[in-house]
Amino acid sequence: MKNIVAINASPRSGWNTDILVREAAAGAQSAAAHAEVISLYRLDKFTGCISCFACKTPEHKGVCVYKDGLAPVLEKIRKADGLIIGTPNYLGQATAAFRALYERLIFQYITYRKDAISCSERRIPVLLIFTSNAPKELYPKVGYDKMIDDYKGNFECIIGPVNVIVSADTLQVNDYGKYDWTYFDPEKKKERRETVFPKEREAAFRAGADMCRQ
Ligand SMILES: Cc1cc2nc3c(=O)[nH]c(=O)nc-3n(C[C@H](O)[C@H](O)[C@H](O)COP(=O)(O)O)c2cc1C
Repeated sequence: MKNIVAINASPRSGWNTDILVREAAAGAQSAAAHAEVISLYRLDKFTGCISCFACKTPEHKGVCVYKDGLAPVLEKIRKADGLIIGTPNYLGQATAAFRALYERLIFQYITYRKDAISCSERRIPVLLIFTSNAPKELYPKVGYDKMIDDYKGNFECIIGPVNVIVSADTLQVNDYGKYDWTYFDPEKKKERRETVFPKEREAAFRAGADMCRQ
C-alpha cells in the first residue's frame, strides 16, 4: 500500500488550503493509498534550518538532525511514496511554516558536491497546492507565477516530479460585513466559492489519486 503524507501549511483548519489538501488526501485514499494529513500549525514548536550542517557530515548525510516539532514530519516524508503540501499566499510568499519545512526538507539533501547535487535516495511525486486572495490574472504581474515556478523547480530537482494546483481569489472569511474591507466584492467572492472552488476540489482529488498511480 502506498503511503502519502499530506501537509496543510495554513494556520486555519477547515478553510481553503486545508480543504484542498484533504481532498487530495482523499483522492490518494481512493486509489488505495494510506494518506495522513498533518497541520503544521498544530505541531509542537519548530523552526527553519538552523545551519548546523550536520546533514552534510558523513554520519548524518542527508538527514536533518534537529529535534523539534518538524522532526517526525521529516521522517514521515523520508518514508513516504508521495507528498502533498498546501500553503496560502502570505505577503507574496508561502507561509512561514511552509518555509520552515521547505528549508529543512530540501537543504538536508543538498550535497554541495559537483558530481551529485542531491543525496536523496528516492524520488517521490509531489503535489503543491497554492491558495491566494489575488485572482489568477494578477499572478504574472505580482510575481506569484515566478514564486510558484521557483518552488516547483526546487522540489523537482531534489524530491521528485511536481504537479501544481492553484486556487486563487479565495473566500477569506464567511462574513465580509464584519470588516472594514472596501477592496472586495463579497457577492463575487461567494459566487466563486460556489462555482469555481468545487472544481478545484475535484482537481485536487484527482491529483491525489493520480499521484498514487505514478
Ligand atoms: C497574513 C496574511 C497575508 C496574506 N497575504 C496575501 C498576499 O500577499 N496575496 C494574496 O493573494 N493573498 C494574501 N492573503 C490571503 C490568503 O492567501 C488567502 O485568503 C488564502 O486562500 C487563505 O488560505 P486559508 O483559507 O487556507 O487560510 C493573506 C492572508 C493573510 C492572513
